[in-house]
Amino acid sequence: QPNRSNSISDSGFVNKMKSTGRNIVVFYGSQTGTAEEFAVRLAKESARYGMKALVADPEECDIEELTNLNTLPNSLAIFCVATYGEGDPTDNALDLNEWLQNTTVDLNGLNYAVFGLGNKTYEHFNAFGKYIDKRLAELGANRVHELGLGDDDANIEEDFITWKEQLWSSVCSLFNVQLSGEDINLRQYELEVHNDLPKEAIYVGEIARLGSYRKQRPPFDAKNPFLAPIVVNRELYKGDRSCMHVEFDLVGSKIRYEAGDHLAIYPQNDSSIVNKLGELLKVDLDTVISLKNVDEDSSKKNPFPCPCSYRTALTHYVDICHTPRTHVLKELADYATNEADKEMLKKMSSSTDEGKALYSEWIIKSARSIVHVLEDLPSCKIPLDHLLEFMPRLQPRYYSISSSPKINPERVSITAVLVEYKSFTGRIVRGVTTGWLKTMDPNGNHVAPCFVRRSQFKLPTKSQVPILMIGPGTGLAPFMGFIQERQWMLDQGKPLGEAILYYGCRKQAEDYLYEQELAASLKSGALTKLYAAFSRDQPEKVYVTHLLKQNKKELWNLIEEKKGHIYICGDARIMARDVRDIILSTIMEESGKTSQEADAYIKRMEVQRRYSADVWS
Ligand code: FAD
Ligand code: 2AM
Repeated sequence: QPNRSNSISDSGFVNKMKSTGRNIVVFYGSQTGTAEEFAVRLAKESARYGMKALVADPEECDIEELTNLNTLPNSLAIFCVATYGEGDPTDNALDLNEWLQNTTVDLNGLNYAVFGLGNKTYEHFNAFGKYIDKRLAELGANRVHELGLGDDDANIEEDFITWKEQLWSSVCSLFNVQLSGEDINLRQYELEVHNDLPKEAIYVGEIARLGSYRKQRPPFDAKNPFLAPIVVNRELYKGDRSCMHVEFDLVGSKIRYEAGDHLAIYPQNDSSIVNKLGELLKVDLDTVISLKNVDEDSSKKNPFPCPCSYRTALTHYVDICHTPRTHVLKELADYATNEADKEMLKKMSSSTDEGKALYSEWIIKSARSIVHVLEDLPSCKIPLDHLLEFMPRLQPRYYSISSSPKINPERVSITAVLVEYKSFTGRIVRGVTTGWLKTMDPNGNHVAPCFVRRSQFKLPTKSQVPILMIGPGTGLAPFMGFIQERQWMLDQGKPLGEAILYYGCRKQAEDYLYEQELAASLKSGALTKLYAAFSRDQPEKVYVTHLLKQNKKELWNLIEEKKGHIYICGDARIMARDVRDIILSTIMEESGKTSQEADAYIKRMEVQRRYSADVWS
């Protein structure tokens, strides 16, 4: 990665802290950048209390050095760590996790605090943050402040600011420091404008290697996405809403995938939104710039690949469509020339109850992006280079692959619902990725940077093993891949076990996905049974879960007698939980097991990969 240096691992983080006069180290376990962003904010804020902090990627550190941290005066280790998937640590925290599990070191004298980032929709809420907090205490370390549990399903920004205010008060009393409360807004990056760089030296959206979008070279992955031509972009709904069947051409990419994998897409921000920001801040977007970290010791040299034009940064690198966090509003306040605007921004970024309520109402509930904020508070003219410092990186979005490579290994398809809604402020808002995909012509001229992420959501290895699939809405996507694969096996003369599908949508005539394909699969035998629930075709709601409840005998027979596999895909919030509850009660009713025994039965199925969920919120 071009933006990183390995200086921490060269000298060791404790040495580095010593030589640069720092007493706090903030480790982050980050997958999408939020935990890293929180870590940077904490480090910056430590200056408020006369302290200095190092932000560190645990992957670049010898974590065993934690045993020496207390050789520095007033030392403290803070961990901002996200949990994802089935309670897993992020990739960059895997080594940290392994070390914690195996070590027997004595951490007596180590001061620490943990903030976990998680999502309550998922079963293992903040599992990794909870684990670090507990394990460090077991090893003898001193918990300076209680574990913070951020919930991304609610308002993680509020959880974070509430926790950090209390953290600083604990830290100040531990180190006997005065709470100054003085805000210091320091610039983290300095601007350099380039006037005469050759084209080849300027990033145009590449994720890592300069020039990788001009000259594509496999292997393709998250750092080196493939620019896949879009060759089909078909509307699947009839009516007002939109769901796209998008096919990408993989010819020449050497990308391999299996049914059940995910396709990750790096989106672009809408050019009209990018232009709007340029107009609001009166900036020539074609100016080529670099933002360079003023802290030469930081391992992060630039916030995104530089040099690039403002337009490239706003289009490819930063997220300008989501609701801004409170520290952005705090920085904005400094630039507001209208007193009322300034007061409002200050209030929203404070951790008072009134401030939190206003932030929740005016930003979160009203779905105001940074562009909307600048539109609605026109006296606020922050320099664009300053704004770019705080904008989070634009993240790739994942989609369940809805095709099988057995049919055509050089084609991959996804099934994506257009996110579009009217916000409380009356604005029509479109999802970044699905809004962008919607504008793509299927003539092969439009390309999307993408890569394949392997998943565990796979058909049984033996084709005779029966399967039961539950996938309302776009939860149907991976099952279309499974069904295509079974059609291929059928054509090869392979023996097939039964395949039962539970599918649900609002109205048969409007949003029934792949109706014809499913009918043809039933006819051929690639699919054996289809239970379809139309929730809005009659006065009372009918969901896949209602139908599943009516078929408990068949369900139990498939699980217990036939040793079949169960798959659930789609909404994590309610549907996946309801389905699990129905399966649990089926096991209890049919076998006489207690609820704990039935739960253990499902857990065993999970371990044997006979119960798989691919869900998102
Ligand atoms: P974004 O710009 O990310 O906007 C979405 C956000 O807008 C929401 O998170 C919410 O905060 C906000 N929002 C949405 N509606 C409203 C509203 N009414 N009011 C206020 N705010 C609102 N999606 C599919 O369509 N098909 C799939 O097969 C699929 N598979 C997935 C598999 C996995 C493993 C995961 C993690 C996700 C999957 N998704 C799938 C979801 C997909 O990744 C994207 O999240 C989705 O397409 C939205 O992306 P976007 O960039 O268009 O929207
Ligand atoms: P609804 O929108 O009419 O409530 C795909 O989104 C389908 O899943 C829709 O028909 C939707 O119904 C339905 N759905 C909503 N909540 C569900 C739940 N908890 N379990 C199963 N299906 C659900």
